[in-house]
Amino acid sequence: MSQSGIKFYYKNVTAEVLDEKNGITKEQFAELSKQTESLIPKINEEIVRGETRYGNLPGNTELADKIKNLANEVKNGCENLVILGIGGSALGNIALQTALNPYMYNIDQRQRKGPRLFVFDNVDPQQFNSFLDWISDKLDKTIFNVISKSGRTSETAAQFMIIRQKLLERLGPDGLRNQLIATTDAKQGTLRTIADELKLRCLEVPDGVGGRFSILSAVGLFSAVMCGINIDMLLQGARDMAKRAGNENFYDNPAAINAAINYHYYNNGKRISVMMPYSFALKDLCDWYRQLWAESLGKAKNLEGSEVYIGPTPIKALGATDQHSQVQLYREGPNDKLFTFLQVNNFDGEIEIGAAPDCAPELGFLEGKKLGDLLNNEKKATEYALLESKRPCLTVLFDKIDAYSVGQFIYFYEVTTSITGKLFNINTYDQPAVELGKEATFALMGKDGFCEYKEMPYQQLAQEINKKTEIDNNFLI
Ligand code: PA5
Repeated sequence: MSQSGIKFYYKNVTAEVLDEKNGITKEQFAELSKQTESLIPKINEEIVRGETRYGNLPGNTELADKIKNLANEVKNGCENLVILGIGGSALGNIALQTALNPYMYNIDQRQRKGPRLFVFDNVDPQQFNSFLDWISDKLDKTIFNVISKSGRTSETAAQFMIIRQKLLERLGPDGLRNQLIATTDAKQGTLRTIADELKLRCLEVPDGVGGRFSILSAVGLFSAVMCGINIDMLLQGARDMAKRAGNENFYDNPAAINAAINYHYYNNGKRISVMMPYSFALKDLCDWYRQLWAESLGKAKNLEGSEVYIGPTPIKALGATDQHSQVQLYREGPNDKLFTFLQVNNFDGEIEIGAAPDCAPELGFLEGKKLGDLLNNEKKATEYALLESKRPCLTVLFDKIDAYSVGQFIYFYEVTTSITGKLFNINTYDQPAVELGKEATFALMGKDGFCEYKEMPYQQLAQEINKKTEIDNNFLI
C-alpha cells in the first residue's frame, strides 16, 4: 500500500484455503454477492435522505470547526480533561485516544499535545474516589465534559452530581460554568435542561444518531481535538471510506464483503466474532466495535415483528497477549468462531531487539530484529495455526496507525454493521433491551413514579427485582 489507509483481506475464509465445510465456496460467494449487492443502494439512499444519520457525520466540516473553536476557547490553562459518560458516550473517546496518542500520554508531558485525558464510564467508588483525591486541588485546571444524550443515565448523572457539588464547593457557580461542558441533545432531556439552566457551554449529540454511531460527532471529536488528534484527517479517512463502502459493486466494496462473510458464518454455525488486533493502540477500537456489533445486531425481532433472537457475539482478544490465554480454545474448542485480525504494516517508532546474553545463544534468533516484525510474525503464526484447525480468518490491514486510517476503520465498521443488519432483516439502530436494566436501576435506587416499560410503579418494580435477585441462603455455601 502506498498511502496510509486500510485494506480488507478475505482469502482465508475461502473453501480453497479451508475446506468446503468451513470455508466459503465460489458458488456461495456468488449467492452472497447477489443478496448483499441489492442492499448497498438502499443504505446509500438512506444516508442521502438523512435517515441513516451517522452517514452525514464525516462530511460535517462545520461541526469540526465549531468543536475546534470551543477547544481553543477552553484549552488555555486546561491540564486535565475528564469525560463523564458511558457506553456510546465514552467508548469512542477512549478508542480514539488509545489509537492516536502515545501510550504514556497522560504520564509524560513531553509526549502530550493537550491536557491529560480521563474517561469515567463506570461508577466504581474505589476508582472514582482515588481519582477525586488526585484531582480535587486541580479543579480550576480541569475541564469536565459530561456526555449524555438523555441525561437520565444513572451512571453519568451520578458522576455529574458528584463533580457539580465539588466544583460548586471549591469554585462557586462561575467556576462551575467555566469548568463544565455538556454534550447532549439539542432540544430535550435532563442534561439539556441542566445545561440551559446553568448556562453551560454545550455541544450536541446529533439527532437520530445512537451512542454507538456517535464517535465522529461532538461526542468523540471534542476530546480528540483537545488532546491534539487531527480530526480533519480522521473525517477525511471516513469520507474516503464512505466512497468505498458505498460502491454498488459487491466485489469493490469492503464493507459489503465483510458483512456478507459475517452473515454467512452466522448462518453456518460460527456465531462468535473474535476481533484480534496485533497492536495495543487498536485494542480499544475493539471495545468500540463490540458495542457497535452487539447493540446493533443483537435483536429479538425482525422488521416484520417475528421472533428471531439473532446476533453474533463479538469478542475482543489482544495479540500477542491473548495468544497465551485464548488460542488453545480457539484452535481445539468448538469451531464456532470467525476471526478478524487487525494488522499494522508500519509501526511508529520501531525498536531493534538487543543482543542475546552470551549464556543464552538460543535467543540469538531475535537479536537485531524489529519488535514490530516479531509482533506481525506472531499474527501470521496465529493465523496459520488457526487455519490449520480450519478456522476462518479475516484481516484488516492498516498501512500505519494515523487519524486517516482510524477514520477509515470506523466508517468501514459502521457501514459493515448497517449492511449486516439489513441482511439479518432487523432494526440496526435501536436498543430496546438496554432499557429494562436502566429502568430497574431507577427502581432500585428509589425513583418515584411509574415505569412505562414494565407498566408498574417503580416501587413495585423494585419489589419484583428484589424477590428475584436477593441472595437465598439455601443456595449459598
Ligand atoms: O449506544 C447507546 O445508545 C448507549 O450505549 C448509550 O450511549 C448509553 O446508554 C448512554 O446513554 P446516554 O448518552 O443517554 O447517557
